[in-house]
Amino acid sequence: MEVGFVGLGNMGTAVALLVAQKGYGVLAWEYHSSVVEEVNSRHLNSRFLPGVALPESLVATSDLGKVVASSQVLFIAIHSPFLKDTLGPVSSYLSENSLVVSLVKGVEEGSLKTPSRILREIFPQARVVVLSGPTVANEFSYGLPAGAVLAGESKEDLHRVAFLVDTEFFRTRFTGDVIGVEWSGVLKNIYAIGLGMMDGAGVRSLNFKAAFLTRALQEMGDLVSALGGRRETVHYLAGLGDLIATALSEHSHNRRLGELLGQGMDLGEVEKEMGVIPEGYRTLKVALYLGEKYHVPIPVARSIWRVITGEVPPKVMVNNFIKLAV
Ligand SMILES: NC(=O)c1ccc[n+]([C@@H]2O[C@H](COP(=O)([O-])OP(=O)(O)OC[C@H]3O[C@@H](n4cnc5c(N)ncnc54)[C@H](O)[C@@H]3O)[C@@H](O)[C@H]2O)c1
Repeated sequence: MEVGFVGLGNMGTAVALLVAQKGYGVLAWEYHSSVVEEVNSRHLNSRFLPGVALPESLVATSDLGKVVASSQVLFIAIHSPFLKDTLGPVSSYLSENSLVVSLVKGVEEGSLKTPSRILREIFPQARVVVLSGPTVANEFSYGLPAGAVLAGESKEDLHRVAFLVDTEFFRTRFTGDVIGVEWSGVLKNIYAIGLGMMDGAGVRSLNFKAAFLTRALQEMGDLVSALGGRRETVHYLAGLGDLIATALSEHSHNRRLGELLGQGMDLGEVEKEMGVIPEGYRTLKVALYLGEKYHVPIPVARSIWRVITGEVPPKVMVNNFIKLAV
């Protein structure tokens, strides 16, 4: 089977490694020519996945058309704002019956389209499967165990993808709930900011953090249900699992955003410190909009927003949370 990748970033390289380790040849397009060069000559990707040896069966190229035209299964691992401009010009190269696998988390500003929807529009001739869950690439690429969900309409497609990525330490489970899986992967970022705020504000109570995450999960479920997804999806790997991994991970940019806000920085200071405002900030605005639109009360998300806008100090938010949200 011909397997292609678009993007040898942190996640793309880690999943390509899983596939290559199972004995499949992988041809991967990468935006940065220095990465292409290093993967092919030294079998390393020190920019995006340092310290991990890559097999020779993983070949990188700057020829995107070649990758798309030759792939029976095409994994996509670039950030969502790049999808249309990168893949649009080569979309007709993908043959019918090919499968597109989205590793991308995000939502398009304005249209609120999720990556699988954008990919279905770019590749109307193909079916799309989504892989999501608590899958921090820097962990599973070192062989540490991880579980993920595969979401798609056809069981046969899901089996086809599982066959490529499942190993002894990386296991997938199936669901038909694409909406629930993709929105869970987006919304958890908001609550990772919230938990970061607690730590930044010096909250040491595990009881409190547990209450916070429990309410966060409930809000995620309410929003996902309103959007047409299933609450049980939120309670499994793509929701609860990813929420825990993101909210507790020291590598999470969204959690870091919260920590800095909790320590008293404003958004401008955070941007200077981090170089960028993480995705969860925009997601929070989307959630507030969705809450209004579908009449879903989301007091936890609102309280995080009030800290960001400077309306409420982090410590007051913590006290209010126990009084109002539990
Ligand atoms: N890293 C993880 O642990 C992880 C886990 C699950 C899901 N994801 C998702 O995978 C996606 C990619 O994340 P990542 O962490 O691998 O990011 P990354 O920054 O490590 O890699 C991004 C990729 O995009 C490419 N790129 C950069 N500029 C581009 C441009 N202008 N046009 C086209 N491509 C460009 C890069 O070369 C690289 O291949 C995101 O949607 C992320 O949410 C990441």
